[in-house]
Formats: sequence, C-alpha cells, structure tokens
Amino acid sequence: MPKSTFKYTNGELTVVWKPDTCIHSRICWTQLRDVFDPAKKPWINMSGADTEAIIEQVRKCPSGALSYFMNEQAVDTGEASDIVAEKASISQIQISPNGPILIKTDCEITHSDGHTEVKQGTTALCRCGASTNKPFCDGSHRKIGFEG
Ligand code: FES
Repeated sequence: MPKSTFKYTNGELTVVWKPDTCIHSRICWTQLRDVFDPAKKPWINMSGADTEAIIEQVRKCPSGALSYFMNEQAVDTGEASDIVAEKASISQIQISPNGPILIKTDCEITHSDGHTEVKQGTTALCRCGASTNKPFCDGSHRKIGFEG
C-alpha cells in the first residue's frame, strides 16, 4: 500500500505530513491549535502562526509524521533558517513509557530487505511488536495496552 504524504506551505516553509507514520500523540494540536486542528479541513493552517512557531511545534512531533523544509534554504538567512541549521551534537534516544523508542535526530534506517530510508526530525520505532508499520510505531501500543 503506498504511503500518503501531504504538504502545506506558507510560502517560505513547507510542512510535510505522513499520516501512516502518525502515532496520534496529540502534541501538535494541543500545543498549537491555530495551526494544527484535526476538526478542520485542511487540518493544517499555515497562516495560524509564524514560521518559527510552526517549526518549533513540528520538531516536537514524536513520530516524525510531521517534518518540514524551508522553501528557499539557500537564499533565506533569517532566524527560521538558523533553527533549521541548529543540530544537537549528541544523538538523543528516548524510551517512551509504554510506547515507542524515539530517535530524536535525523537518521538513515536500513530495513531488513536492505533498502534505506532517511528520516528527518524524530522517528518512533515500535517496541511493543503490534505495529502494522514496522519498524515504525503506528500507535497500536495504546490499543493493546502495552506496558514497558
Ligand atoms: S510501540 Fe507503538 S505500535 Fe508498538
């Protein structure tokens, strides 16, 4: 089944949403409702906040379902680009209570069949075994009441 990808832009920034990767953490719409509102269509309103605020929120996405890129990174030298350039020097991996392993940096995943995939932002890897989108978490840990 092909993976869905949706893009939303405000001209300088494009937010990419991959619903198949979403673990429904609710972080985006509970923290920046003027931009992320699942009750509206489209559910992402790029006019709801400035570029910096949107970038800051997208970077909090625990699954990597939300990511972003600057439309003109080579030309833009504003503050938003500075945020894009900011990278942690130490990789952070977090074990979510009763949930996935969160790799909090850009990474390249090599799948069991050998193909590779670059993930930007945070990537959530299933550790409950119930995901239908392995190796990624799809939120199934909640349905099975995973504890760990
Ligand atoms: S940890 Fe989320 S589906 Fe397995």
